[in-house]
Amino acid sequence: MREFKAVVLGAGGVGKSALAVRFVRNEFVEVYDPTIEEAYRRAFEVDGEMSMIEVLDTAGADQFTALKEMYIQHGQGFVLVFSLTQESTLREVESLRQQIYRIKGENSNFPLVLVGTKLDLASEREIPTSTLDELSSRWGGVPIFETSAKRNWHVQDVFAELVRQMRQR
Ligand code: GTP
Ligand code: MG
Repeated sequence: MREFKAVVLGAGGVGKSALAVRFVRNEFVEVYDPTIEEAYRRAFEVDGEMSMIEVLDTAGADQFTALKEMYIQHGQGFVLVFSLTQESTLREVESLRQQIYRIKGENSNFPLVLVGTKLDLASEREIPTSTLDELSSRWGGVPIFETSAKRNWHVQDVFAELVRQMRQR
C-alpha cells in the first residue's frame, strides 16, 4: 500500500484540527483547543485503490517558524485552510503558498488543495464563491473546497483530491 504525507496549514482557529479529526475519526471537535502538533493516520480508499495517508495537523500560521519550514520540506501534499467566515485568513493562505514555493522551489509543482471551512455558518460568511473562483484560476486551477467539519460536508472530497494528485508523483 502506498503511503502519503499531507500537511494541513492555515491561520489559527480556522478549523484545521476539526477538518483532520472529521476525516480521520469522523467526529466533530466542538471545543477550541489550539494545536501544537498532531499527526493522524488512516487507510483511505480512492477510486478503488487503498492508500495510507498521514495527516500532519499544525499550529496556526502567524509565524514562519523553523518548524513550519520542516513540515513543508517533508510534506508531499498540502491542505491550505482558511475560514469562509473570516476574510483575513484567506490572505494567510496566499502567504503560505508563497512559503511553500520558496522551500520546494519556485518552479515546483506540488499537490495542493485549498479548503474554506465553516460552510454551515452561512450568516457569518465573508468570502463569496466568486472570490474563490478568481483565486483558483489565478493559481492555475487549484481545486478549492467549501466544507463543514461540523456537518461533514465535502471533507472526504478534500483528501480524495489530494490523494489523486499525490499518486501522480
Ligand atoms: P489552531 O490549532 O489554533 O491553529 O486552530 P485550528 O485551525 O485547528 O481550529 P480548530 O479546528 O481547533 O477549530 C476552531 C474552532 O472552530 C473550534 O471551536 C471548532 O469547533 C470550530 N469549527 C471548526 N470547523 C468548524 C465548522 O465546520 N463549523 C463550525 N460551526 N465550527 C467549526
Ligand atoms: Mg488545531
